[in-house]
Amino acid sequence: MKKLFGMFAVFTLMLLISACGSNNDDADADGNEGTGGEEGKVEIFSWWTGAGEEEGLLELIDLFEEENPDIEIENAAVAGGAGTNAKAVLATRMQGDDPPSTFQVHGGDELNKSWVAADKMEPLNDFFEEEDLMDKFPEELIDLVSVDGDIYSVPVDIHRGNPVFYNKEIFEENDIEVPTTFDEFFEVADELEEAGVTPLALGDKESWGATMIFENILLAELGPDDYIKLFDGEIPFTDDRVKESAEIFNKMLDYVNDDHSSRNWQDSAQLVADGEAAMLNNGDWAKGYFSNDLDMETNEDFGYFTFPETEGSFQIITDTFGLPKGVENVDEVEEFLSVLGSVEGQDAFNPLKGSIPARVDADKDEYDEYGQDAMDDFQDARLVPSLAHGSAASEGFLTKANQAVNILVTQGDVDNFIQALDDASEEM
Ligand code: GAL
Repeated sequence: MKKLFGMFAVFTLMLLISACGSNNDDADADGNEGTGGEEGKVEIFSWWTGAGEEEGLLELIDLFEEENPDIEIENAAVAGGAGTNAKAVLATRMQGDDPPSTFQVHGGDELNKSWVAADKMEPLNDFFEEEDLMDKFPEELIDLVSVDGDIYSVPVDIHRGNPVFYNKEIFEENDIEVPTTFDEFFEVADELEEAGVTPLALGDKESWGATMIFENILLAELGPDDYIKLFDGEIPFTDDRVKESAEIFNKMLDYVNDDHSSRNWQDSAQLVADGEAAMLNNGDWAKGYFSNDLDMETNEDFGYFTFPETEGSFQIITDTFGLPKGVENVDEVEEFLSVLGSVEGQDAFNPLKGSIPARVDADKDEYDEYGQDAMDDFQDARLVPSLAHGSAASEGFLTKANQAVNILVTQGDVDNFIQALDDASEEM
């Protein structure tokens, strides 16, 4: 039943978007708008553009072009963190039977309940066999990109959603210890505020930035098993622990920068880099941004710790690429997926992106201390799917949850918030 609601929501979204018409200037003589299906070309659709996002992809494209000089790559990236804009453009194109050759999609519900459920993706089991990939990814990861035994995409990375990055100098100057519990977090936050520093940087111009904080509090309060049950519909959003999470979230929001609603994730990370704010909870693409765009040294300029009370859990976000039905250049797309799924491809992309390789046999030496720690945690910790990044619930639910978070951030009404989540949960 939930599946049906989810599919209904996706189709409604797709119809709504296509009803708005398309502005794509690239329409060719046949009326085809993208270049997704053209032979000799591979169009890669993602939201990796600009600072903190695109370097890994460009490196991967370079590697592909070296190995495949006859195939042209079209980098069709649409700006906007977490795919805020790209997902809408993609929906229009998929609805109009004009898929890109391959596109960025999160493993989990975003792939499975949207594009696989709508019968828009080709299974890649043969490709996985031919490329000898079956045992190169952790089983749990293959499960996230599979439905009924069919595999639908190739994971390029594993990002983590529950690190907190912090400005080392501020912590040292104020003699502050890393907080591991919420009580400690609020003590630290008070000390920082007294010292004239914004305790927590937030950029929720796109509300997923705040949704990430809330999902980590949920993980802390419920623990990994019940967190998973919540998004499987086995625990209701009216559960006391969800309410408690909302209260803690509301309190945390008292400690963020005033201009949070006009900042995107890079702008919020910038506050920590500049020493205006002390801590940031975001995905570890922020680590890529600190290291590669802002030239900050891991464990010298910035440090990191696990979001309070979530030690032992790994909030998993995986970017994957698949083969949409109807593209004509299947061989070329598979060539690209082959590079993206190779050790070389993953080790070119991930050190720049801040993520770790999805493959189990990549070269640990390519990664700095942060990456190596994340790899160890990934092996030992309990993996839980992120809501904010499409893995835990359908796009229909996520859209409503993001709206509810946005209203909580502006109005602070916890009861309303719980009600809105509970109402939306039918669409999970
Ligand atoms: C996530 C994505 C990451 C990163 C981030 C910020 O959804 O998985 O790769 O791009 O958004 O845009």
